[in-house]
Amino acid sequence: MLSWRQSLHANLDLERPPLMEIQVNYPLQPLNTFGVKAQAERYVRFDELAEIAPFLAGRPNAGGPRLILGGGSNLLFAKDVHGTVLHPLLKGIDVLHQDREAVLVRVMAGEAWDDWVAAAVHNGWGGIENLSLIPGSVGASAIQNIGAYGVEVKSVIDRVEAVALADGSARVFAASQCGFGYRDSHFKRRWRGRYLITAIVFKLLRRPRFNLSYAGVQAQLKQIGPPTLANIRHAVIDLRRSKLPDPAVTGNAGSFFKNPTVSRAVLNSLRNAHPELPHYAQGDDRFKLSAAWLIEQCGWKGRALGDAAVDERHALVLVNRGEASGEEILNLSRSIATSVKKRFGVALEREVRVVPNGDTCQPGTHRPR
Ligand code: FAD
Ligand code: EPU
Repeated sequence: MLSWRQSLHANLDLERPPLMEIQVNYPLQPLNTFGVKAQAERYVRFDELAEIAPFLAGRPNAGGPRLILGGGSNLLFAKDVHGTVLHPLLKGIDVLHQDREAVLVRVMAGEAWDDWVAAAVHNGWGGIENLSLIPGSVGASAIQNIGAYGVEVKSVIDRVEAVALADGSARVFAASQCGFGYRDSHFKRRWRGRYLITAIVFKLLRRPRFNLSYAGVQAQLKQIGPPTLANIRHAVIDLRRSKLPDPAVTGNAGSFFKNPTVSRAVLNSLRNAHPELPHYAQGDDRFKLSAAWLIEQCGWKGRALGDAAVDERHALVLVNRGEASGEEILNLSRSIATSVKKRFGVALEREVRVVPNGDTCQPGTHRPR
């Protein structure tokens, strides 16, 4: 299986289709980190910004539904994709402005997210070091407002540049317009299917302020050295490697579900029965629970239904142990959600986007073996 970074660029290295040519029945297995088999009815990739608007403007209704693909690290192909997969592989990192405090940088959507983090750390620009080693593309980082180790990308986004899929017209959204929340944005819901993100303008600090709020990062730093951008990146990479499976070795898409949020009343009633329940105050009398803990308590950690399995180290990560189909992984996820709902009364919401919307698959009825 290809690593997620190879996967993002896989079709650049293989025999490349001519620019802007629409490919039919295009294989998607190398382009998703679950490594499941699927194909796109039509596929087109863009290497230059200038190619996108004319392509869209010339085809207002043709090609059926459109799916935009980044690194395929937050997607589960449950079936073949009906319609056209658009794959923007636009490259470039440009400093737009800098002063003593901050730097404004435009990063094109097709850059690999972690290459951008490495470049920022190398240049002494602070703000995204805690987001080291998250797979995928820069463009997709705004879709679910990626987050890790106490930082969400919304805190460093100045604006998002996009084109409207309807007619190829250019749009710019200030961060405040994007509806960013926990693993959420307007791009993911209200505006879903309307825009292709072409670039993101980030505002990073030239005098970094370190975020060491996540206890694990502080503990890791004790073995590495004082907090610097490079040391924090190092600590986060070590932590991630110790907890999460590498998609280059075992297909996965990171956390399959979001951590659920509940009211104080629900928390208290759950804690009466389970005093050890991990929970994190959100500041608005709401509390985040650990989906991993709920899943582990239901006996799913390390369990498998065929080649679709729950990771042995982290219960929130579903993995493809070999030849699992997208539908099998989806059905496993449904069985897990059913167990958690039955035992704790808590609904799990998927973080991973299932394509096509998987509601037509079999409901989950399996029990862990
Ligand atoms: P894809 O999976 O290709 O697409 C995801 C969604 O974004 C789809 O809806 C797609 O249509 C849309 N999209 C992609 N590009 C564009 C674009 N240019 N314009 C418009 N829409 C677009 N996520 C976290 O937040 N925190 C983590 O710590 C984290 N850890 C992970 C660890 C592992 C091992 C893995 C495999 C995944 C992890 N993820 C994490 C999830 C994933 O890496 C992120 O969601 C990432 O941003 C997805 O990027 P992508 O380019 O692969 O997007
Ligand atoms: N836990 C278990 N069993 C497990 C794993 C974890 O009970 O198998 C419990 C432990 O109590 C642990 C707690 O869950 O303390 C939290 O675990 P972890 O620190 O690994 O974080 P997480 O809540 O599972 C979230 C994000 C990750 C992100 C990390 C670090 C979500 C859905 N997931 O995971 O993001 O990297 O925090 O900040 O919010 C992703 O989105 O794909 C992703 C990997």
